[in-house]
Parts: sequence; C-alpha cells; structure tokens
Amino acid sequence: MAIIASNFKTNHTRKSTKEFICNVNEYLKKNEISTEVIVFPTSTSLDNFDTIPSFFIGAQNAYATQRGSFTGEIGTEQLDEFAIKTILIGHSERRHILGETQEQVAQKFNFYKELGYKIIYCIGEPLEVKEEGLNSTLEYIYEQFIGIDTDYENLILAYEPVWAIGTGVTATNEDIVNIHNAIKEKISKPLLYGGSVKVNNVREICSLNNVDGALIGTASWNQEDFIKIIENTK
Ligand code: G3P
Repeated sequence: MAIIASNFKTNHTRKSTKEFICNVNEYLKKNEISTEVIVFPTSTSLDNFDTIPSFFIGAQNAYATQRGSFTGEIGTEQLDEFAIKTILIGHSERRHILGETQEQVAQKFNFYKELGYKIIYCIGEPLEVKEEGLNSTLEYIYEQFIGIDTDYENLILAYEPVWAIGTGVTATNEDIVNIHNAIKEKISKPLLYGGSVKVNNVREICSLNNVDGALIGTASWNQEDFIKIIENTK
C-alpha cells in the first residue's frame, strides 16, 4: 500500500485548505480507501476541521521548541492546537532556499523524534551533484543523514532530487531505482519518491522496486488531481 503525501508549500488559503481536506476525507471514507495519506498545509491555513480527517495533517516546518522568541516560526504549542504530530523535515527548499544547515535539520529531527512525531525526512541532490554520477549522488545523500537516527521507529524517508522538484522533469525509473535500492540497502524504512510526480506517472513510479509512495507538490495542489493520484495508487 503506497503512502501518498501532498506538500502544499506556500499555496492555498484557510478556506481552500478546509475544502480540500474535507473533500479528500469524504472521498477516502466513501470509497474505503486504505492508502496512508498525509497532507502538509501551509502553517497559516491550519485549522480545526469539522470532522477529524481519516488521514494525517502534517506541519511543513516547525522550530525545535514548544514556544519562545523565534520570529516567524511555530512550535509544538501551535501544532498541539491542531493535534498535529506529523512533520516534514529536511525539505530541499528549506535547505537550499532558506539555508537550513544539516546541523539545524538534525537538531529539529532529534527534537521532534523525542516527542514521538511521525517524521517525513527529505534527502536529495542538486543537479550539479547528479551530473557527477551515481557515486557522488549517493555520497551527497548519505551526508544528509549525519546526526539523524535512521532507526527511529516513526520515520519515513523521501528521496527528492532537487533538479526534479517543481521542474516537470521527473527522474527516470532507472534514476529512482538506483537511488532507492542504495538507500534501502542501508536504511530499512518506508521510502517515498518526490519530484514532478503527476497523475499520469504516479502509478508507474509507485510500482518501482523500493518505492513506497510519493511526496507530491504541484500535481497535488488541485484536490481533484490529488484524488486521481490516490485512485491511481490504491
Ligand atoms: O515535497 C514535494 C515537492 O518538493 C515536490 O514538488 O512540484 O515537483 O511535485 P513537485
């Protein structure tokens, strides 16, 4: 059974988020879909929902704190309000756009691990590393596990080649299988693929060896397409 996750990034309003979550929840219940679904709304669109969804609502980010003076950040005090206990950590946009270091990512990982959060931990190489070949790519990815307890029971990994994120250029099946096989040889955890996953390629990607699901951005922001993606992987 695939794990299907939607990362809203900086999209949707509180109203459209609520509609999205309620409609997806209704679809899952009506069709008795057992796929593990995780939705990561933007922190500003977090809301209490009329009915508790039958899937996980996660935080795209949160600081390693309960509360405090960390302007622009949220902590567990805010997440607890929405009963959120799932968090995305290490996303490449936070590493490469927002400058999160491996040390900061590891600190966040360990903080939320201690609190028992379900952690979706992202790894992936930039294009210039990919172009150096498979060994360089794997070396880069393994360095992204520095300070990370990969035996943590509530851990899901997501391999997202940076050059495939938001570009429409999906990694080839060979790319995906080579990396997923190598990671799985070292770390026996659920491993999602992310990077231009779409309605028309998700079934094939999730059928590949050592691919346990998908972490999706662009193609998941439309609720009908997200439901089609779940439909194609059930
Ligand atoms: O976290 C998932 C995201 O990074 C993938 O984005 O737009 O390539 O599906 P996208």
